[in-house]
Amino acid sequence: MRFDTPATTNPIDQLRVIGKPHDRIDGPLKTTGNATYAYEQHAAAPNAAYGFILGAGIAKGTIKSIDLDEARRAPGTLEIITYENAGPLGFAPFIPRTAALAGPRVTHYHQAIALVVAETFEQARDAASHIRITYSEEAGRYDLAAQYDTAPIAPDYILGPSEMRINDFDGAFASAPFQLDETYTTPPESHAMMEPQATTAVWEGDQLICWTSTQGIAVALGDLAAVTGIPPENIRVVSPFIGGGFGSKSFNHADISLAAIAARMVGRPVKVAMQRPLVINNTTHRPATIQRIKLGANADGKITAIGHEALFGNVENGWQESAIVPTRHLYAGANRMTLARMATLDLPEGSTMRAPCEAAGMMALEIAMDEMAEKLGMDPVEFRIVNDTQVSPDHPERPFSLRKLNECFRLGADRFGWQDRPSRPRAVQEDGWYIGMGTAAAIRGALAFPSAARVRLASDGIVTVECDMTDIGTGTYTVLAQTAAEMMGVDIDQVAVSLGDSNLPATAGSGGQYGCASSTGAVYAACVKLRELVAETLGFPGGEAIFEGGMVRHGETSLPLAIAAANGELAAEDLMEYGDLFQTFDQQTFGAHFVKVAVNSATAEVRVRSMLMVCAAGRILNPKTARSQVIGGMTMGLGGALMEELVVDKNRGFFVNHDLASYEVPVHADIPHQEVVFLDEVDPYTSPLKAKGVGELGISGVAAAIANAIYNATGVRVRQYPMTLEKYLSELPQI
Ligand code: MOS
Repeated sequence: MRFDTPATTNPIDQLRVIGKPHDRIDGPLKTTGNATYAYEQHAAAPNAAYGFILGAGIAKGTIKSIDLDEARRAPGTLEIITYENAGPLGFAPFIPRTAALAGPRVTHYHQAIALVVAETFEQARDAASHIRITYSEEAGRYDLAAQYDTAPIAPDYILGPSEMRINDFDGAFASAPFQLDETYTTPPESHAMMEPQATTAVWEGDQLICWTSTQGIAVALGDLAAVTGIPPENIRVVSPFIGGGFGSKSFNHADISLAAIAARMVGRPVKVAMQRPLVINNTTHRPATIQRIKLGANADGKITAIGHEALFGNVENGWQESAIVPTRHLYAGANRMTLARMATLDLPEGSTMRAPCEAAGMMALEIAMDEMAEKLGMDPVEFRIVNDTQVSPDHPERPFSLRKLNECFRLGADRFGWQDRPSRPRAVQEDGWYIGMGTAAAIRGALAFPSAARVRLASDGIVTVECDMTDIGTGTYTVLAQTAAEMMGVDIDQVAVSLGDSNLPATAGSGGQYGCASSTGAVYAACVKLRELVAETLGFPGGEAIFEGGMVRHGETSLPLAIAAANGELAAEDLMEYGDLFQTFDQQTFGAHFVKVAVNSATAEVRVRSMLMVCAAGRILNPKTARSQVIGGMTMGLGGALMEELVVDKNRGFFVNHDLASYEVPVHADIPHQEVVFLDEVDPYTSPLKAKGVGELGISGVAAAIANAIYNATGVRVRQYPMTLEKYLSELPQI
């Protein structure tokens, strides 16, 4: 099926199953421990040996020697894989740019030097401690700020040109009666998902099966083939359950290729989980940014000039944390400038993490908007509303498919009691705490990519959905079951969903909040075909049959759906493809955040007291799973505002706090009451379900809303994330 004209009325609009807050159908498996993850394939891969990765102890240089003798003699050692015996390794086409196995060059700290395979994990770890390596170490570039004056414009990229100038930005800024010119910084951050990267690899003849923790089966398989040289047709990748990815599992890491090679060498299953202390420096992170924002406005609050420059760093040709992206879509303003610059760094590689680009960009832009509102003497909600645009600001010929940002702000302000916010900072004190409120917008692209699915109808009436889509904890199993149930006119408990296997039809996978629209679109297309097949089998002219309550009705005749499969299962498969609606229309999701904080007047400790987000994200397929996604994003945003930071050792070139004890993320005690409201809207330009993704919208903007609330509470403006208390304690009044 091709989706190239806006959706009209279709069976999804009945909303008997879609739009209902169904519990996750995979929930019982997870809560009872029966969901098996990549490292837990005891039944499928019995007698697996354990792999332990030894990470490099330098960030840049060359291996001079590796002495494996003692390690090979250690009890239980089966094999040790290094660059000297692994065979030639290639590269994935996109990410990572750094080699899965170092040698002789080392290009980042904790890059894998060796995989020790042993009978037990403890033996593998012990043997690894007996490997003796000598290096010739070189100086590296580890400090982003040191390249502030010299870093070149970033190469043009998947996200568009790195520099755009529209009309006369410099002139308009210079002549604006109100000006803001400030610089903001965001630190490197870690995905910090619960399940580390992990793979169990098994060879059956020349066929390789990898149970791995990935967001996208097809990418994992293709990239594994590219790195190892194993023909793709000989590889099967399976990933039914994933313990979080947050972008880190959009691409492969060392575990999968090393497990595959090791399993072939030792002739038995091998499992490798990235040890937690290695996750941060061996895999990827969100790169740091330095962002300069310039705003010019008239006294009426209209923005006349908007400029956003972002500097970020990475390995050569690496992922670009292009924080300027949201500024190209968010606010009106005739004179515009966006510029991305990229430094080359020898730190571990950066990649996609939790709303890449938007999350970091909004952390800066939305503080700047708050600062400008204050200069103008305007309410920050009103300032944003005044600068709404219904056409893409950088491409005025391109309307938004649907943009209800102002409605989000109005509804949110009303619900949150925004009228009680003191317009002057440090105006409210309660029991030794300064109280403040902050707001920020949210924006994140809405996309869908070609995806296929198969739907089968069995003689017992059970409908089975099959595709290689992953459920990374988002509720994908559930919304796909809802989609098939709605389309086939059955209850959700009549639908089984099988995901995460390269033997199933290929989807775009999970990432960039496109997974939901893409995979439900695929199931929709397959169900349209299955409905035709059912109608034909039952002797009903296609297109006119009604599927409802487990029955198929045509005119006066009504037959059980299951009858259609009485003489054999019916199956239909289709690929959903997309026309140019994503080019003709700017398709985004929008939201408004409201936050109330308390800041201790003596210690500067911040307690976030309440959070509200109003989202405009198309049709919400399941308000329960969508809400969980959004509060997850809001929680991550709180982490970004107050605590998350990978600390760079600028001499040795690594992230110092490489464990979950010292890389701090919010815990329950940090999280206040959170409320999520979805505008009741449908966007017919996105997919037949009129739905968009919503997961990454939740994190966009929220850190700035917290920063703005801290300012409102204390009168101290912090422009460096995370806003740990030492950054403003000294500016609080003496008590
Ligand atoms: Mo997401 S960071 O695009 O998996």
